[in-house]
Parts: sequence; C-alpha cells; structure tokens
Amino acid sequence: MPAISIQSISKTYATSRGDFHALRDVSLDIAEGEFFGLLGPNGAGKTTLISILAGLTKPSAGRITVMGHDVQGDFAAARKQLGVVPQELVFDPFFNVRETLRLQSGYFGVKHNDAWIDELLENLGLADKATANMRQLSGGMKRRVLVAQALVHKPPIIVLDEPTAGVDVELRQTLWHFIAQLNKQGHTVLLTTHYLEEAEALCNRIAMLKQGQVVALDATSNLLKTASANVLQFKTDHALPAELAPVARVTGRVVQLPAQGPHDIERFLATLRQAQVVMEDMEIRRADLEDVFLQVMKGAA
Ligand SMILES: Nc1ncnc2c1ncn2[C@@H]1O[C@H](COP(=O)(O)OP(=O)(O)OP(=O)(O)O)[C@@H](O)[C@H]1O
Ligand SMILES: [Mg+2]
Repeated sequence: MPAISIQSISKTYATSRGDFHALRDVSLDIAEGEFFGLLGPNGAGKTTLISILAGLTKPSAGRITVMGHDVQGDFAAARKQLGVVPQELVFDPFFNVRETLRLQSGYFGVKHNDAWIDELLENLGLADKATANMRQLSGGMKRRVLVAQALVHKPPIIVLDEPTAGVDVELRQTLWHFIAQLNKQGHTVLLTTHYLEEAEALCNRIAMLKQGQVVALDATSNLLKTASANVLQFKTDHALPAELAPVARVTGRVVQLPAQGPHDIERFLATLRQAQVVMEDMEIRRADLEDVFLQVMKGAA
C-alpha cells in the first residue's frame, strides 16, 4: 500500500475570466519511507495539491488516499497520518510556543506530550522561545513553530510546503538534519521547495509540475542523467555572440551554457574567442537538478 496515492486529481476554479485549471489529471503514488520532492514554478499547483491531500480543498475530480484512507470520505483517519507544514504563516497570536504545541497535541488527542514537544523545540532551535508569545517571534521562528506543530503527533507522513522559505542557513541545516533523521526512522516525507539543491540532496524521487500537469516523474538520479552532461560557466561584461545567446542562461554577469559533451564545450570556447568575449572565473561543472528543472520547464508544453 502506498503512503500517498494520488489518483487522477483535477482542480478547476471558477474565476471571472472563466474556468481555471489549477490541476489536470495528476496521478502519482508515494511509497512508504520515500523522501519525495514536488517541484514546479510559482502557480504550478503544488499548494493546491497539498491542500487537497490535507483535506482542506475539494478536488473537482479524482481521489487521494493516505495509508489507504480516502482524504474526503475518511478525513479524520487520513488527517491523523499527516503532519502538514503549510506555506502560509498561520498562527494564533494569543498563545506562547509551548501552549501552541500543546493545543495542537490536544487536537490530535495526544496527551502527556511534553517530552516530545521538548525534543521538537530543541531540534528546531526553539528551546529558548518556549514561553515566548507567538506575536514576539520573527518570521523564520514562526516557520519553525509551524514545523513543530506539524510533527507534534509524530505523523507517519510529513508534508512540507516550502518549509525553508525565509529560514536562515543554520536552521535550514538543522531542519534538514532532523527531517532526514525522521525519514531514516521510516517517516515518509513529501517536500515542495524552490531550493533545488535541497531537493537534489534530499529527495530520492521527484515530480515536476507545470501548469497543473506532471511533466516529469522519476528517481532523482535518473532525472540528473537526462540533463545535458555539463555546463560551461563564466562571468563576462561582454555581449554574447548571436549563435550562443539563445542557448545561454544569463544572470547578471554570470553566463551558463548547457553542453552535451566536450565537443559542445570546444565549440562554445571557439565561438567565444572569435567574438573576443573576455571570460572570468570560467569553470566546467556537472549539470545539476536546477539545469534539469529549467530544461524540463522549457521543453514541456
Ligand atoms: N481559490 C482560488 N481561486 C482561483 N485560483 C486559485 C485559487 N487558489 C489557487 N489558485 C490558482 O491556482 C494556481 C496554483 O496555485 P498554487 O498555490 O497551487 O501554486 P504553487 O505551485 O503552490 O505556487 P508557489 O510556488 O507560488 O507556492 C495559481 O495560478 C493560483 O492563482
Ligand atoms: Mg505553493
């Protein structure tokens, strides 16, 4: 039995400009124990899919089961299996951190949970904020509380919708260490993130969504193999020759040219020399998940 089974899910919103298809016939299974990445540009439908999974939004068609429980028909049982870290910061301003977590425990019917709450606070760098009012926390700290809230009932499936947005480098490391540890202990993890290096490092399998459709679904290692093998990267103040401009990715002074192999690199270098482009900090690196992602998004209709 898959931990999560998403079966032909569609979601259509009625808008003033007609029907908008946020999700189109999305199907995928996530096995128990997987660390699964759901990637896609802004508006691709990731949060919509997660909110259907969490039983907060009704799909227009299709069904989702969580450990065999239908999220519509068997909401309570399905919801208990899930710990969801929402993308939006929502919290009750009248409680302190510990009270918030106790309340959430109560919601799931978990009693005498303080030992686990302490462990969560410790692991998420919140130990010294336990009695701080939610209003007194910074944005990143509030996000940490959301993560703790999602984990308070030790759910077998952990769903993280951009948990590291606005979170500092140090906590990001601690958070991933903690989540990876939970995954090793058998928890299934579903993660959405725009930090592709995080997804590459953590996820064993990845789905990419574009305009509500799955456009890639494979093991991370397989996806990496489909990308152009290498990337020629350098900095320059010069304009690129017309031949290279269409294939280049330019961010400020940094130019990246995806290459299928050494012959491409040789051709790029010859063209650049002929155009007298002065290059700084040149390197040839292996293609990474960001390269794959951009390639898939460009290619998918
Ligand atoms: N209630 C709604 N009514 C109409 N359209 C909606 C509604 N909720 C979401 N959408 C649209 O559905 C699309 C998918 O939104 P969603 O929040 O799922 O994207 P996302 O992949 O999570 O993006 P992001 O990376 O920005 O978080 C967007 O175009 C959004 O505007
Ligand atoms: Mg989202």
